[in-house]
Amino acid sequence: MKGITLKAHAKVNLTLEALAKRPDGYHELRSLMVKLALHDTLSFCLAPEGQLSLSCDAFGLSCGEDNLVMRAARLLQAAAGRPLGARIALCKRIPMAAGLAGGSADAAATLLGLNRLWRLSLSQRRLKALALRLGSDVPFCLDACAAAVARGRGERLSRVASLPPLHVALVKPAISVATAWVYQNLRLKSLAQGQHTAKSLAALRLGDIQALRQHAINHLESVTIPEHPVIAGIKRDLDKGGALLSRMSGSGPTVFALFATQSEAKNALKCIKSARFFKCSTHFL
Ligand code: C5P
Repeated sequence: MKGITLKAHAKVNLTLEALAKRPDGYHELRSLMVKLALHDTLSFCLAPEGQLSLSCDAFGLSCGEDNLVMRAARLLQAAAGRPLGARIALCKRIPMAAGLAGGSADAAATLLGLNRLWRLSLSQRRLKALALRLGSDVPFCLDACAAAVARGRGERLSRVASLPPLHVALVKPAISVATAWVYQNLRLKSLAQGQHTAKSLAALRLGDIQALRQHAINHLESVTIPEHPVIAGIKRDLDKGGALLSRMSGSGPTVFALFATQSEAKNALKCIKSARFFKCSTHFL
């Protein structure tokens, strides 16, 4: 059988509201999540039973059992009840530990790719349950939507139709942030009810940038930015460069900024001087 190749898209959180700590230790979220054109690419080929391997072109990324791709493949083997074989190749373009769900997107693509390669015919519902075991962002990455409002841990998705075709500048400083640490240090806002996510979506659709700036809130900025002030500097530089909006994505440290055109996004990136930062311009999917 021929191999399968899939794209695994990065995401940004236009909003991220943490409403309450749940009995299971996770936080109840409201988040407007949007996929970006920036993507990793995974290819899957059949291999003899018992042989499962991952190769990757990124320096410093483990291809062992700790990689989310391998963990996703192991979950599917367990569901199949057999150690089915595959060779998986990962072409990495999304920066790692960045708040862009690169690892989650790779895991979701693996669930979809191997479900087809191994002809398992697991339902979308079953795949989604496996996705959530791999991480809170994985169900969104698995879903065929381009954007959604996420509730619960991030897995209860309401798809959002047609956002404006905005361009995005991404800047990741040369630091990594541990998501669990950020949530552990989060002080919940007592009045947070999740209303900012719906208001941001409405503002985005109306092109009301002032309202968007007011409501596009990421509660995790209050933890990550004081620890890493370089993020505030990047936001300032992108704002000076004419961004409609600049925010940290997820638990950080990547900053995204929205622009009406690609040339505006590219020009703003020129204001970011550090050669050690990851910089790229992309657009909403
Ligand atoms: O689900 P995932 O493994 O990506 O989450 C990483 C960490 O982020 C969790 O261990 C948890 O501490 C925190 N988290 C949370 N509430 C969420 C999602 C993640 O507290 N809704």
